Amino acid sequence: THSGATAAAAEKGNYRHFMQKEIFEQPTVVAQTLRSYVHQANNSVALPQIDFDLSTVKRITIVACGTSFYAAMVAKYWFETFARVPVDIDVASEFRYRQPVLEDGGLALFISQSGETADTLAALRHCKAEGQTIGVVVNVPTSSMAREADLLLPTHAGPEIGVASTKAFTCQLAVLAALAAHLAVKKGRMDRAEEEEVVRHLLEAPAALNAALDHDEDIAAMAHLIAPARDVLYLGRGPDYPLALEGALKLKEISYIHAEGYASGEMKHGPIALIDEAVPVIVLAPSGPLFEKTVSNMQEVRARGGQVVLISDAEGLREAGEGCIATIEMPRVHPLIAPLVYAVPVQLLAYHTACVKGTDVDQPRNLAKSVTVE
Ligand code: G6P
Repeated sequence: THSGATAAAAEKGNYRHFMQKEIFEQPTVVAQTLRSYVHQANNSVALPQIDFDLSTVKRITIVACGTSFYAAMVAKYWFETFARVPVDIDVASEFRYRQPVLEDGGLALFISQSGETADTLAALRHCKAEGQTIGVVVNVPTSSMAREADLLLPTHAGPEIGVASTKAFTCQLAVLAALAAHLAVKKGRMDRAEEEEVVRHLLEAPAALNAALDHDEDIAAMAHLIAPARDVLYLGRGPDYPLALEGALKLKEISYIHAEGYASGEMKHGPIALIDEAVPVIVLAPSGPLFEKTVSNMQEVRARGGQVVLISDAEGLREAGEGCIATIEMPRVHPLIAPLVYAVPVQLLAYHTACVKGTDVDQPRNLAKSVTVE
């Protein structure tokens, strides 16, 4: 209705789209979410009140769809690194039909913005029937998944209107990082000093997200380079590999450009055949233990005429930025929070590319905010 449209426009404030507004809300909502998961006074992790002993968890199964699944991929990395607990992850539509082996005493975690995605909810009910403890990372506190959880881990992103998920994702990552650290503490894998350090880094995320958002205009300018492309490739390694997948998903969803995310090291097993001057390759490479490896994959692309856009911090760009068609500078951050920070440029790049193309950013064709059918 006319008045509905007016109300919606008002809620957008000074932003053109809900998606844009939601991208810019991230520093605030991540800080808001972290407040429920860390004690700032003594730099410790704290979960909402639960009567479940995490120290007994031997195996974690994480199930989700879409962008929430990419949060699961990042979380697997953290759970394994911090807590040394084996983690199995799957998209819900595969998980529910593949007769997964669930061990006694397992924790099954479901990640969902809406809490209503049909496949994820069915997977949850299957795990519940199999006697798993059900943990749910969810943004809608009144949702079906929230109600059916044993361990409810809310994200405090506020309502997400844009169909393509943005702020819910970074809030999911904040919760999952805190949960991984908490599990590590409970399992005796993380001492107080390490816990304090993790919390300190997590609390640096909101400022780092702000610093990433400062590059909005550079990214808007760069979108003109991406908009004419037919195909775009995103590369990343380790916890930045899911971010490459997320970058490709965002671009597909809202700009309708075909995009693929690849683990940098897998490039030479196929996608390198696609490289030519017409295919922009977006490389996510924060300084850190995996930087040199990713950069060497990037050089393989460049040697074949690939047009590289490098997203890294000042140090990384100084070392490897030469010869790229464009670079995006991110703040230098601890590897723990890099996936949160690097979500910003991939969201903004998709957003601005869609704006250049004039597509319907908040309501992309064929997509639904919440997929409540199989
Ligand atoms: C849809 C949305 C995506 C979202 C996915 C999972 O495909 O368009 O943005 O990531 O569902 O939704 P959920 O609510 O379960 O996180």
